[in-house]
Amino acid sequence: MSAADAPGLWVTFEGGDGSGKTTQAALLEEWLAGRGRTVLRTREPGGTEVGMLVRDIVLHHRGEVVSRAEALLYAADRAQHIETLVRPALARGEAVIQDRYLDSSVAYQGAGRVIDADEIRRLSLWATGGALPDLTVLLDLDPADARRRLDAADKPFDRLEAEREDFHERVRAAFLRLADAEPDRFLVVDAALPAARAAEAIRKRVEQLL
Ligand code: TYD
Repeated sequence: MSAADAPGLWVTFEGGDGSGKTTQAALLEEWLAGRGRTVLRTREPGGTEVGMLVRDIVLHHRGEVVSRAEALLYAADRAQHIETLVRPALARGEAVIQDRYLDSSVAYQGAGRVIDADEIRRLSLWATGGALPDLTVLLDLDPADARRRLDAADKPFDRLEAEREDFHERVRAAFLRLADAEPDRFLVVDAALPAARAAEAIRKRVEQLL
């Protein structure tokens, strides 16, 4: 299915760590709710109970998690999330605002961990029965700027955030390639913009989908 087959609206946010996805997702939620829409705000990994268990492994496990196991864990979280939470909400006509989806796997496990991007994409599409969002907002930010934001937030880094700068450079480049390949699905927003201006650009695009 593409989300277009369901009556709801499905928007995913993508971008590197520290790119401001959470802030923008919250602003969009507020705006849509103000227009009378029922909104489900959710995230991967961790949108479901099973997902919270997976999240704990992929972000906080202290021992080794090999790249293919990591890819399968994210895919397992995704399968559970889409079938039990996202599809039912879209079928009810709700707006789903989701922090990260399969593009994160292609960027982080594909380009970051260096696994074939097509294999990763096919794995996610298999896990979800081919579900694709109506819109994917990519918040694009130089990893060095993102690192400064994360440092300022003064929270301990998780397994992925702790990766070196070249890892995050590959992730960024992969996101931009994905956006280039699917311009109809993606909106690329400069995450260095003030939050209010980025939010305005996102609302303009979402408005066209309502
Ligand atoms: P996120 O929830 O954005 O982190 P935070 O709670 O710190 O804002 O994402 C968790 C991490 O998981 C992030 O570093 C990216 C990574 N990730 C993948 O590597 N692959 C995936 O498929 C997904 C969904 C996330």
